[in-house]
Amino acid sequence: MRSLRLKNCRVFYRGSIVDDAELLIENGRIKEVSRLSIRKPVDETFDLKGLLIIPGLIDVHVHLRGLNLAYKEDYDTGTMAAASGGVTTVLDMPNTDPPTVDLESLDLRIKAAEPKLYANVGFYSFVPEELTEVSELAEAGVFGFKLFMHRRMPGYRFETLEDLKDILKAVGEVGLPLLVHAEDRGLLETVRSENPDGGLETFEKALSEESEEKAVKTVLEALEAVKKARVHFCHVSSIGALRLIEAAKASGLPVSCEATPHHLLLTREVYERLGFYGLVDPPLRSKESSEALWSAVEHGVVDCIATDHAPHTLEEKTVGGLWSLKTGFPGLETLLPLMLDCVNKGSLSLSELVRLTAHNPARLFRIADRGCIEVGYWADLTAVDLKKEAIIDPSSFKSKAKHSPFEGWRVRGVPETVFVNGELVLLDGEVVCGPGVGRVLRPGVS
Ligand code: DOR
Ligand code: ZN
Ligand code: ZN
Repeated sequence: MRSLRLKNCRVFYRGSIVDDAELLIENGRIKEVSRLSIRKPVDETFDLKGLLIIPGLIDVHVHLRGLNLAYKEDYDTGTMAAASGGVTTVLDMPNTDPPTVDLESLDLRIKAAEPKLYANVGFYSFVPEELTEVSELAEAGVFGFKLFMHRRMPGYRFETLEDLKDILKAVGEVGLPLLVHAEDRGLLETVRSENPDGGLETFEKALSEESEEKAVKTVLEALEAVKKARVHFCHVSSIGALRLIEAAKASGLPVSCEATPHHLLLTREVYERLGFYGLVDPPLRSKESSEALWSAVEHGVVDCIATDHAPHTLEEKTVGGLWSLKTGFPGLETLLPLMLDCVNKGSLSLSELVRLTAHNPARLFRIADRGCIEVGYWADLTAVDLKKEAIIDPSSFKSKAKHSPFEGWRVRGVPETVFVNGELVLLDGEVVCGPGVGRVLRPGVS
């Protein structure tokens, strides 16, 4: 049994900060949270020098890539990026190459990932071609099934409202959520075919706020009919969708949703500065929309803040015509500094931050014994310096995608030291361990 004592720390514990606290970790789990000095003999004592410890962040929307897309990101670089950003668990999307659509492709992904992990990872699958395979994938431990409504993706051929109901029934039956990228396929395809050489405005028209709202409405209609299912809306960005989700929640429908830091903190004006590089799907919206998103965070309509970490090479994002460009940004290394900066500026409280990035993700996705600093829980811990200033510098990212729309932003609050499963992974901002510290997680399994 290995024991570790963390001394000289402030701990976010049961909703408030405990000063001068100590933590005892045994075999990777939290054994004791104490206001007094822990006197028991331990194998190792670690001085946190007054840093604030919060639960390691859980990011429920990450593209770690790997396998044939490892040139963009791999399981080691992606989870190193996570740990460097104070994120100790990520849930990984299935638009991989080969795509995750069945047991075989899932197994391939797990085997490739497992030896490389610096943070914990859970996997999502596409909705399989045959809905009868949903239960096999659930048994194999996926955290949910992803549906891109606006693009034809591998897996189930989704066309009609009836298809959507069938998907919800199958996924609901195994007790897992359907994760939805809600945008309308018809509109995208029309705008695309009418504007083969479009610019930024074409992109915004093809993936408009109305498109998101329409897709959310369709899903809610299907869910209303099926009932015994759960839907998680990814990266909500429009005022209309937020209203629909708020009303659905009020009427008792089992829905949840996430907001990304880029939709919260950036608006479409960024395109003037960044051009095509700034493309992300869903697109950046107006100031009113990002304000609505903040209000939804405040009112509990938004359940999680998730990055949609979408690493691509800079060339893939900037060279070529609109429809061939890759969209999205790396986000794992900017999430926490950006959000701590919001805490310092007063737009988010520390308890809200912990709720949105740790408690709620763990609860919604049944990530057992994580997302909280509590006796018996895994010691996934992020020690932050709330007062330290930093300038966001993508050249120092561990992610292979060394670029960011937040480049040059001055922020206050950074992760300094991180433990994953009780192992020291990040010390003073540097990765200090080898791969294999992170684990492959399964829902409900500690
Ligand atoms: O901008 C995006 N990038 N949106 C998505 O839905 C997918 C993601 C990716 O995988 O690159
Ligand atoms: Zn998406
Ligand atoms: Zn995504």
